[in-house]
Amino acid sequence: MTIKLANLNKSYGKKPVLFNINLEIPTGSFTILRGVSGSGKSTLLSIIGGIEPMTSGKVLIDGQDVSKLRGKVRTDFYRHKIGFIFQGFYLQPQLTVGENIALMGTFAGMPRKEREERVKELAQMLGIAEVLDSLPAEISGGQAERACAARAMFMHPEIILADEPTNNLDPENAKNVIEMLKKIQQDTSATMIVASHDPLVERYATQVIGIKDGRVSEVGANGTRTVATQGGEE
Ligand SMILES: Nc1ncnc2c1ncn2[C@@H]1O[C@H](COP(=O)(O)OP(=O)(O)O)[C@@H](O)[C@H]1O
Ligand SMILES: [Mg+2]
Repeated sequence: MTIKLANLNKSYGKKPVLFNINLEIPTGSFTILRGVSGSGKSTLLSIIGGIEPMTSGKVLIDGQDVSKLRGKVRTDFYRHKIGFIFQGFYLQPQLTVGENIALMGTFAGMPRKEREERVKELAQMLGIAEVLDSLPAEISGGQAERACAARAMFMHPEIILADEPTNNLDPENAKNVIEMLKKIQQDTSATMIVASHDPLVERYATQVIGIKDGRVSEVGANGTRTVATQGGEE
C-alpha cells in the first residue's frame, strides 16, 4: 500500500499551507511526519485520509489516483483502506465504547452480528473488553486511546493515520500509546503514518519526514536522514 504524493499543494481560501509536496511512503513503514505546530502535518494527514480536498497535485494510493474516485466507490475506498486516529483520541460521547469502535462498520452497512464479533476481537486484543458497554465519559484515558485505535482498525485498513497521538500525555502514557501503535503496525503490517513533534515517537519510526512551513524539509530512513531533493515551487 504505497502512498505517493506528487506536486501536492493546499490552500485554505487564499492562504497556501502546503507547497509542492513530493513524497513516497512505503508499504508497512512506520512513518513520522515531524514538524512544529502549524507546519501542515494535520492538513497533510487529512488529505491522505480523504477528509480534506487538495488544491492541486496528485495522491496515489497503491497506484490508484484518488481524484478519479467518486461517490460510493470513493467512500468505500477510504473506509476500507484507511483508519484515522484523531488528535485527542476523540470518541462520540453519546455512543458506547463498543458502538464507537463499530462506527465504520455501521456506516458501511455491516450486519450487526459481524460488527459485534469484530468489536469483541479488537477489544480482546487491546484489553478493553470490560468497557464495551460503557460511555466514553466512564472510561480512563488509556482505555479511550485503545478504543480509538480499535475504531481505526475496525475495517482492517492497510493504512493507519494518527494525529499527534502522544500530545498532552505524560511520558509513561506517551510510551504506552506509541508502543501500542507500533504493535498494531507490526501485527497488521499496516502502513502507519504518525504526525508528531515528540522525539519519543521518532525513536519508533522507520522513516522520518520533516515538514517545515508547509514544505518537506527532510526525508530519510530513521538515523540516516538526508535533505530532501525537491523541485522548485510551482
Ligand atoms: N480549516 C482551516 N482553515 C484555515 N486554515 C487552516 C485550517 N486548518 C489549518 N489551517 C492552517 O494551516 C496551517 C497548517 O496547519 P496544520 O495542518 O493544522 O498544522 P500542524 O498539524 O502541523 O500543526 C496553519 O497555518 C493553520 O493555521
Ligand atoms: Mg496538527
